[in-house]
Amino acid sequence: MQVKVALVGMFAQVGERPASQKIVELLENNEGAQVRATALLALGQLDYEHLDQMVMLGMRDKSSVVRTEAIGLLTEVSLDKEKFDDTMRAVLGEGSVSEQQKLLKVLGQLDTLLTQGLIEKLIVRMGNNNLDPNLHLDLSEAIARTHSEYLGIQLAALVTDKSSDFDEVMYGGSIENGRNYFYEGSAGQCVRCHGVEKGSVGVGPNLREIGGLLTRKQLLEALVKPSKRLAPGYGVVTLTLKGGQVVAGILMEENDEELILKTTEAEPMDIPLERIQTRTNSPSSMPPMGQILTKRELRDVIAFLASLQGD
Ligand code: HEC
Repeated sequence: MQVKVALVGMFAQVGERPASQKIVELLENNEGAQVRATALLALGQLDYEHLDQMVMLGMRDKSSVVRTEAIGLLTEVSLDKEKFDDTMRAVLGEGSVSEQQKLLKVLGQLDTLLTQGLIEKLIVRMGNNNLDPNLHLDLSEAIARTHSEYLGIQLAALVTDKSSDFDEVMYGGSIENGRNYFYEGSAGQCVRCHGVEKGSVGVGPNLREIGGLLTRKQLLEALVKPSKRLAPGYGVVTLTLKGGQVVAGILMEENDEELILKTTEAEPMDIPLERIQTRTNSPSSMPPMGQILTKRELRDVIAFLASLQGD
């Protein structure tokens, strides 16, 4: 098989007409997914005259390796709208998350004459909670890339209906990219304050089990509104109780029923939520990350944090 892969590459360089016919046969008939993918790539390099048909064929291939290659070539060919719609629907319905994400990225670069109908349908699906949350950010990025005012307005209408315009970063990130960002991202500087290895301590809490402790929504909140909920042991809370008494202390624990505060008293204080009139959190010393990280970076960091389960 390796030999065939090499052969296909060589044909592409030679650039002979009969060669492309042979390559088409490989794409149509060869059993090896890698061979078919390379054949498609070679046809792209050869500027094969029926490349559009081959790309469509590749999009329908049973192997995701070939489909991904075909998606990458979409910007190189001019497509007939009807065929385009059919094939897109197939990939968007059945492809893996990463294929669909890649497709949306390409979609944003294609002529809106071709893509507008499809993008509109996706917006409607998102509005009906019918679009995989892993794709939300990719869809809104694709829409931004089209520079279409019309699509932008439709998306905006949807976002104001929703609780937060950061919701789209909760799902669909890459753990690998998030890990890289966590260790190396120069704007967020997570490792300046946090460790993820056992026993490592810093200004902020150790995060090695954070994926098991917080939901994705809470992780998002910890990043963009750090003062709203403070990690146990990391913030001072001031409470006015019903009846007027004021207590302040380090928040050690918080659940649906009570707060536990460490105060100057020897014993921690348990305060039932129903006794609390007002509550003020001291601001977190963690900078809010909503303006510091891009949405894509936030999404990857959340994927990484969610994966930290303490093992
Ligand atoms: C200047 C220091 C500092 C930096 C930089 C920083 N953090 Fe924090 N972080 C803290 C502190 C202090 C807390 C505890 C207070 C709180 O919950 O907000 C915290 C809390 C958190 C929590 C909640 C933990 C819990 O148990 O509730 C998460 C998650 C988190 N940080 C992730 C990050 C990530 C990811 C980055 C990088 C993008 C980052 N932090 C950068 C100081 C920092």
